[in-house]
Formats: sequence, structure tokens, C-alpha cells
Amino acid sequence: MKRRAIYPGSFDPVTNGHLDLIDRAVKLFDEVIVAILRNPSKSALFTVEERIEMLRAVVPRPQVKIDAFDGLLVEYAREKRATAIIRGIRAVSDYEYELQMALMNRRLHPEVETIFMLPAEPYSYLSSKLVKEVFSLGGSIAGLVPEVVEQRLLEKYKSLNQIPQARTNDDD
Ligand code: PNS
Repeated sequence: MKRRAIYPGSFDPVTNGHLDLIDRAVKLFDEVIVAILRNPSKSALFTVEERIEMLRAVVPRPQVKIDAFDGLLVEYAREKRATAIIRGIRAVSDYEYELQMALMNRRLHPEVETIFMLPAEPYSYLSSKLVKEVFSLGGSIAGLVPEVVEQRLLEKYKSLNQIPQARTNDDD
């Protein structure tokens, strides 16, 4: 039987930290499903379809599937016959929330294990939220996201008419 893991999250957008974790996870599992939560209550910059498209563009590996899910993560894991849920832990501050989720998920579905993984150190402070903030304020995100994601961020903020002057001048 295939050893399958779910790597769930918002991926709004995917960062190099996420990609680093995927690289580590594929060494441990036969298949890794990167699963985006469809969450209408959480406002995202990119649609789920846009996030799937970006992930597919930057993770062209047969061992990694990209998908989206609704409802409880453990139900999705059960449906996919996954034995593990992968979560990245960057700083100690991530741990409390992750511990709560992992223990609740264990209570709901004891057969699925949560595996906490550490990204490479240069990504230990990286989050999609910070990437969006820095980019939208004209700062450099080079090396923090794949180039295609940087391009999509530019297009997205342009379409929202939210590109700061500094970045607009860069483009000219
Ligand atoms: O990257 P994120 O946004 O921190 O990911 C959070 C995610 C998607 C893993 C979490 O919100 C989740 O699993 N949601 C699905 C609903 C669910 O199962 N809730 C109970 C968690 S204990």
C-alpha cells in the first residue's frame, strides 16, 4: 500500500518555504497531496483555482498531487487513505496552535499521525502573509517565492489597482 501524506494549508500563495517542506516530505512518503482548504470565511488574495495553478506550475512531480478540500481535514485524509498530515513548524510560536490542531485531529481520527517538519533555516521566518505584505508595500521578495508566484502577485495587485508607486516605477 502506498504511504500517502496530506500537506494541508491555505498556500495563498505558495512560498519557497512550502516547497522546501514538500521536498522533505517526498523523501518520506510515496505520495504527498498538497491540499488547499476551500474556506469562504477566510479572505484570500488568490482564488483556490489560482493557487492550484501556481502549485502545479512549481511542483511538477508525479509524486505530488495538488488538490482542494472542504470540511474536516481528517475526513479528507480518511477519504484519501492518507496515514499522515504534514505541518511545517517555523518558530516556537507556531507550536501552540499546531499542537491544538494535531491533538484535535488525533481525537477525531486516531489512525492519522501529524508530522511536524522544519523548513530550511532561511525560510524559518517566511509566511505567505508576510510575502503579501512586503510585496504590496514595494519590498523585495526575491528568493522567497518562485518567480512565477512573484509574477502572479504583480498581476494580482495590478488588477486590484494596489501596486505601490515604487513598484510601478520599477516596471517602467
Ligand atoms: O496554512 P493554514 O491556513 O494555517 O492551514 C490551516 C488548515 C487548513 C490546516 C486548518 O485550518 C484545517 O485543517 N482546516 C480544515 C477544517 C478542520 O479540519 N478543522 C479542525 C482542525 S483541528
